[in-house]
Amino acid sequence: MGSLHGLLSFCFVLVLVLSSNHLTAKAHNKSTNQIKVEADFKIIAELAGKNSIPNADFKGLAKLALTKAISNGNVICQRVNSLLLKSSDMYTTRSLTGCSTNYKDAVGLINKSLAALDAKKYGDAKTCITDALANSTKCEDRFEELLQRKSPFTFMKAKFGLLCLTGLKHINLLVQKERLITEGCSQTLDKELCISTVGFFLENKGLGLHGLAKLAVEKALQDGTRIHNHISVLLKTTSDKCVLKKLKSCSAFYLTAIGKIKASLPALDCNRYGDASTWVGAAIGSAETCEGVFAGKSNTISPLTPMKIEFSKQVSISLVVIKKLAGN
Ligand SMILES: *[C@@H]1O[C@H](CO)[C@@H](O)[C@H](O)[C@H]1NC(C)=O
Ligand SMILES: *[C@@H]1O[C@H](CO)[C@@H](O)[C@H](O)[C@H]1NC(C)=O
Ligand SMILES: *[C@@H]1O[C@H](CO)[C@@H](O)[C@H](O)[C@H]1NC(C)=O
Repeated sequence: MGSLHGLLSFCFVLVLVLSSNHLTAKAHNKSTNQIKVEADFKIIAELAGKNSIPNADFKGLAKLALTKAISNGNVICQRVNSLLLKSSDMYTTRSLTGCSTNYKDAVGLINKSLAALDAKKYGDAKTCITDALANSTKCEDRFEELLQRKSPFTFMKAKFGLLCLTGLKHINLLVQKERLITEGCSQTLDKELCISTVGFFLENKGLGLHGLAKLAVEKALQDGTRIHNHISVLLKTTSDKCVLKKLKSCSAFYLTAIGKIKASLPALDCNRYGDASTWVGAAIGSAETCEGVFAGKSNTISPLTPMKIEFSKQVSISLVVIKKLAGN
């Protein structure tokens, strides 16, 4: 059992090392590597330059509309409840009681759709919004049915409905945009890297290659610093001696990574792209080493993994752009 365990953790480390950014993994053969980056870069640049892929932040726009819908729904709830306190007529009371439930449900559903949106569960997010709309319509219908008149919230309901529909529209646009990028990247050698690089290019449309490289490196530096700060917090709150030891090693590794990324910035400014690429690439090595330290013999999951994935992604984007600059 012990040897199997050891073998498993060895494989785990091996997978981590092998799955590390293929750009650095293949750095020993510069020509092939360069050719692959060139090939991928052409597709990435074409995708990011396409006018059919808008650079609008559809997710942000959807969240904005849905957050407003929640405030709006809460205001309607308050209005319903205050009218309910004054109501003496049986049918009005019954209608209002129903509406109170409808809007409480609607607000809960929109809140759920925001969480689904963050989890990239777009179908679920849309279902929640549609159900929320149906709930607000139900309130109107009940007034017509029981009292043969419109509810006192018809006007507010129209605004709530419009905000929900705006949220839906932007989720549909987001899905369409992500599909175009995924399809475009399907021909590249590193699809995930292509998708994140196109995303980064679209977010920063208008910046030249040099500006993109600097921004990507600065973001990688921020990500690395954030991890290092997080380790400092963990060092203060962890009591397990083994974990503490690993955290101390990782703290040093990330400090090295941060130092190397920092050193690449002046190199970029002086157009020393080869140096910049070497230093930024070395930072990935430090992050991988930390993951390996955590995996260790006991196969412990590193508490830093999610942040490390973001960091590696940002470093890889930097490398793509710097290597392109170096090749020009
Ligand atoms: C490097 O790549 C070239 C093709 O560009 C190939 O011919 C050569 O064998 C590779 N060298 C190594 C050491 O992998
Ligand atoms: C209202 O929301 C609830 C969930 O809270 C859902 O089960 C129900 O189907 C919705 N009502 C309508 C009329 O869609
Ligand atoms: C909204 O959803 C979050 C979880 O995503 C939950 O913690 C919070 O209580 C919800 N708020 C309301 C008003 O439903």
